[in-house]
Amino acid sequence: MPVMKILKNFPVKKFRRALLAWYQREKRVMPWRNTKDPYKIWVSEIMLQQTQVKTVIPYYKKWIAAFPDVRALASAPPGKVLKCWEGLGYYRRAGMLHRAAKSVVKDLDCKIPARAALLKELPGIGRYTAGAIASIAFDEKVPVVDGNVVRILTRLFALRQSIELSAAISALWDLAGALLEERAPGDFNQAMMELGATVCSPQNPECGRCPARTFCKAHRLKREMFFPVRTRKENYESVTMHALVLSLPDGRVLLQRQLAGYWWTGLWTFPFFNSFREMAGICGEKGVRPLGKLCHSVTRYRIELRVWTKNSSRKNLLHVAGSRWVPLKNLKKTALPAPHRKIANLLLEARK
Ligand code: ADE
Repeated sequence: MPVMKILKNFPVKKFRRALLAWYQREKRVMPWRNTKDPYKIWVSEIMLQQTQVKTVIPYYKKWIAAFPDVRALASAPPGKVLKCWEGLGYYRRAGMLHRAAKSVVKDLDCKIPARAALLKELPGIGRYTAGAIASIAFDEKVPVVDGNVVRILTRLFALRQSIELSAAISALWDLAGALLEERAPGDFNQAMMELGATVCSPQNPECGRCPARTFCKAHRLKREMFFPVRTRKENYESVTMHALVLSLPDGRVLLQRQLAGYWWTGLWTFPFFNSFREMAGICGEKGVRPLGKLCHSVTRYRIELRVWTKNSSRKNLLHVAGSRWVPLKNLKKTALPAPHRKIANLLLEARK
């Protein structure tokens, strides 16, 4: 449906006013909300992709303390960058942020571009992140559309087109652009996202305290929960994997560095395998004992990680690519992805 038709008879100005007044009253305190520094806003927006505000805050503070500006980030060693990201997941985001910082220093004389169209040229910055940085840091009149904004717009106008269609998403960008308050684009964009994150939630929208309640078509129809419309079913895949804690008599354990093109590129993990048989093929079955079971999710995979342990001797040092024996006391300062950090914590606890 064309934007003009969707917006016919919609009180755009009243809606903007109500949303912005609510945002000024109710916005959550976030450390990146009292700055116009594009670098800090950029870091926060990359961290906020796929991760909740509550989780991001301590990471953001640690990151800014370690790399206070784009120059500091560009000159940091990759291991330190990954270490500061450890636990946030989706590690490619950290690598791309690092690459983009280098490009800003080398090619752009340390100046972060002020326009969304130029920001999009940098690694890891798509239309959403470019819009967020340009509107919040530089007041450019560009919209943002993330999952929260999709939910608000499809509910507000009871849009029945499936959001799996790229034409539907493209129409939502147009619609967000038409609704944008041009005098305060950064606040307006953040208000839309904030409303989606705190009030207009997927399962339990709190319409009673929503500033857009009187404008919302889905609410009038008592159909909030039916939007956004998706045609495809979420198809999660359950997977079982096996991790091995191989220990030497002096207490060191074997870690493996993940190669480019695999999950967790550049991070260290305990060796892990698709099956027990594959693991036993490398370390033998004798002496293998169960240590525990962990569950975690990566993209659409729901993974049960069975953890095994075995004592080893120097003689049968494993030939696992990129592996190294690491003293337990060094595990704390090594960059491990979340499930392997849990294994390390089990070991460190057991030693106390
Ligand atoms: N989600 C991602 N970025 C955000 C922001 N700046 N404000 C609120 N929610 C967000």
